[in-house]
Amino acid sequence: MDRYAVIGNPIAQSKSPSIHEAFARASGQALTYERILGPLGGFVEAVQRFAEAGGRGLNVTAPFKREALAIAARASERAQAAGASNTLAREGDAWYADNTDGAGLVRDLTVNLGVALAGADLLLLGAGGAARGVLLPLLAQKPRSIVISNRTASKADALVERFGTRGPLDAIAPGALGNRRFDVVINATSAGLDPNAVWPWSEGLFAADGFAYDMIYGNAPTPFLRWAAGQGVTRTADGLGMLVEQAAESFFLWRGVRPPTADVYTLLRPPG
Ligand code: ATR
Repeated sequence: MDRYAVIGNPIAQSKSPSIHEAFARASGQALTYERILGPLGGFVEAVQRFAEAGGRGLNVTAPFKREALAIAARASERAQAAGASNTLAREGDAWYADNTDGAGLVRDLTVNLGVALAGADLLLLGAGGAARGVLLPLLAQKPRSIVISNRTASKADALVERFGTRGPLDAIAPGALGNRRFDVVINATSAGLDPNAVWPWSEGLFAADGFAYDMIYGNAPTPFLRWAAGQGVTRTADGLGMLVEQAAESFFLWRGVRPPTADVYTLLRPPG
């Protein structure tokens, strides 16, 4: 049977094995999918061992996404733009790198949640790897504007410098957003992970009926979604749907089959 795996450090918490096993069952594909704890400083060797053992594809998670792009012989445009890869596919005796995170976010927003991105004003909070990874796929939806706002303003400026020719992109520091209102606000910071961190954005960024999307997910509403709800925002989602959709996009790259995602989402989050 064809072998696949997810590699990261830590990895025990990864939901990818259950997601891909469910996809395989639902689409009648015979494959195995395991977890690999990648040693820090030993990513390349671990990937090499997996390839020698017949591995056909890998999902790559923190902290190895940049290294995954670096080891590939060929990479998709979206992986190159992201500067990172979450999906490796065996191509002959080399790796092909893709990045399905942005496509997963866009699909969750537009298809699962019914959020219109075309013509919308978007605010992307954060300018790290997570933000960069979704920028081009968001621009491809033809929003009216995307503002990137980051605690460290220079990093948002650098993203605009790099991708500003690809669409209506601006960088605005957290304290300079003034009266701007956004249809969709996407949290691509890692701020929610640290309960003591100071949140640099003021309230009042959401348009009437605006949508709050957190790329982080959890069993309870995330700090960002609680912040949004505290301002009266009723349309919110965390990143569990993005997780499932990026996995489906990886599965499609590997197997040429697009697996159904709704049941897998329900499996991970039973209706409450
Ligand atoms: P990732 O790959 O998850 O994007 P990263 O590249 O380290 O990780 O980027 C983390 C992002 O979260 C950055 O935009 C960071 O802001 P800085 O560039 O100013 O560091 C943002 N971030 C982390 N903690 C934050 C906080 N407490 N408030 C606001 N932004 C925060």
